Order: sequence, then C-alpha cells, then structure tokens
Amino acid sequence: MKKVTVTLMVAMVISMFAGGAFSGVTSLRGDKELTANSDESDRRKQVVVRGGMERSYKIQPPVIPHKVDKDTINLKTNTCMNCHSEKTFEEKKAPKVGDSHYVTRDGTVQETISSRRYFCDQCHAPQLDAEPLVNNQFEGAK
Ligand code: HEC
Ligand code: HEC
Repeated sequence: MKKVTVTLMVAMVISMFAGGAFSGVTSLRGDKELTANSDESDRRKQVVVRGGMERSYKIQPPVIPHKVDKDTINLKTNTCMNCHSEKTFEEKKAPKVGDSHYVTRDGTVQETISSRRYFCDQCHAPQLDAEPLVNNQFEGAK
C-alpha cells in the first residue's frame, strides 16, 4: 500500500511540472488581458459547393453546401423543407431528406418527416472557408 501512495505522489509532482511546461502556449484569443474583449473574428463567407461535399464516412450527415442565412427552423416553420421535402424536392431540384428521416423512434415509417429529424441543424452544418484552429491529421474513411 505504501509503495502505491509514494508512486502516486511522485506522479502528481511530475504532472505539476509537466503542466508548467504548457504555460508558454498562447491562447487562441491571443495575449489579451483576461478582462479585455477578444478581437472581432473575421467575417467569412459560407462555402457554396455545387454537387455537395464529400462525406468523411458512410453514415455522416452530409454538410450543407449552400447558404442558410435566410432559413428559419422553429416550432411553426422549417424553410429547409420548402426544398428538401417529399412534396417539393423534385421541383426545387434538391436532394430529398434521407429515408431515415421518416422513421420514428419505434421504427414506424411516416409519410412526413419524423420529429426526431425536424431540427436539421442539429446534424447538418454549413461550412466556412477557414483554416482549422488546431492542426490535426483527421482523414475520412474511404
Ligand atoms: C431553396 C431551396 C433550398 C433550401 C431552402 C435549402 N436547401 Fe439544402 N439543398 C438545396 C439544393 C438544390 C441542394 C443540392 C446542391 C448541390 O448538390 O449542388 C441542397 C443540398 C443540401 C445538403 C447536401 C446533401 C448531400 O447529400 O450532400 C444538405 C445537407 C442540405 N441541403 C440541408 C439543408 C438544410 C439543413 C436547410 C435549411 C437550413 C436547407 N438545406 C435549405 C436546396 C435547398
Ligand atoms: C439526428 C440527425 C439528423 C437530423 C436532425 C437531420 N438529418 Fe439529414 N441526414 C442525417 C444523416 C445521418 C444522413 C445520412 C444518412 C441518411 O441518408 O439517412 C442525412 C442525410 C440527409 C440528406 C441527404 C439524403 C441523401 O439521399 O443523400 C439530406 C438532403 C438531408 N439529410 C436533409 C435534412 C433536412 C432538410 C433536415 C431537417 C428537416 C435533416 N436532414 C435533419 C442526419 C440528420
């Protein structure tokens, strides 16, 4: 038991020193005083890609390849469905929402979209042309 306690203490001391090594890292908001406001971030344009964007893995919710700033999703309206619903997609030349969007949580297939899939932006996100804040080596599954 004693040995375990000593090992734990040594580990704690080491991690305290290791923590100190990170204090030289600059925060993403720069060297601002805690009480100062951050710089206003750049206004970036939403990326518009004809034909949509490649998915990183098979069942990924596809990202939104068009502007959405005029769209509204609330209890009364869902303007996404003006184009993506079973009634409108052909005329609007838009892809119909996935078949999974009509299935309720107990597996029943409905004529209209399931409430589980009503708030589109829970899963689908528009994209901005921006460098990642932190570099990473993520690669999509092919
Ligand atoms: C004015 C019609 C219209 C509206 C409104 C609209 N979309 Fe779209 N959407 C399209 C069209 C057309 C495409 C196909 C674009 C292309 O492939 O070039 C598309 C593509 C998409 C895709 C990509 C599908 C894929 O397989 O890659 C997603 C996701 C999407 N829209 C989600 C949304 C969401 C969420 C909203 C509401 C915030 C919305 N759309 C509002 C017309 C619309
Ligand atoms: C809970 C997550 C979730 C929500 C909410 C959701 N989707 Fe999806 N969506 C997905 C996933 C996952 C896929 C890919 C698998 C599939 O087709 O079901 C997808 C696929 C799609 C596609 C491509 C279909 C195809 O055949 O390629 C469109 C278009 C789309 N969704 C639009 C919408 C719209 C519009 C809404 C809101 C009314 C919405 N989705 C809500 C998860 C979601």
